[in-house]
Amino acid sequence: MSTTTVTESGEPQSQPIDKERRATIAVAAVVGGAGVVGAAVPFVASFLPSERAKAAGAPVEADISRIVPGEMLTVEWRGRPVWILNRTPQMLQSIRKADSEVADPKSLRTAFPTPAYARNDYRSIKPEYLVTEGICTHLGCNPIGPFAAGGNVLLGADPGFVCPCHGSTFDLAGRVYKNKPAPDNLPVPPHKYLSATVVLIGDDSKA
Ligand code: FES
Repeated sequence: MSTTTVTESGEPQSQPIDKERRATIAVAAVVGGAGVVGAAVPFVASFLPSERAKAAGAPVEADISRIVPGEMLTVEWRGRPVWILNRTPQMLQSIRKADSEVADPKSLRTAFPTPAYARNDYRSIKPEYLVTEGICTHLGCNPIGPFAAGGNVLLGADPGFVCPCHGSTFDLAGRVYKNKPAPDNLPVPPHKYLSATVVLIGDDSKA
């Protein structure tokens, strides 16, 4: 689906998933119920930043009104995939259960610092919406998912994300499980809500 590299500055960064479609990438992945889930299905393209805005690395707005619970929208910001996952109560429960299994449950590590407004139980401003970069903190690959409980052998009975490069696994808050190659949780980009249905990625002034 995509490849990854490391920028000149040493930051892990995803390669554009489709150079012909450098704008919004919209992916829906339904997670819920039993069995194997996690297949990505194109579902909505809700914003289209201008070429100029993208070149400048400007913040981008994402319309989250059509992300139903259990689905995930991916938007592009500065060439990076940013996931917005609308988590169900069941998914939130799985995060609390994973507290003792993840390496940095409170997101206190500083290599990829989590903004203060996301250093909480669900790593998010609003409990239901996970906003995180889909970039592994090990060597910058793009994890895949979300998978439902039992949906990926590397996750065992847990739901979450899997980095296919070296097997790091993450819970539905983007927290890396213990004893994995990735040293840190998935990065949370600066962001804030402009309204109940619009989130701005790339700007957290007065978040
Ligand atoms: S890049 Fe993700 S585990 Fe190595």
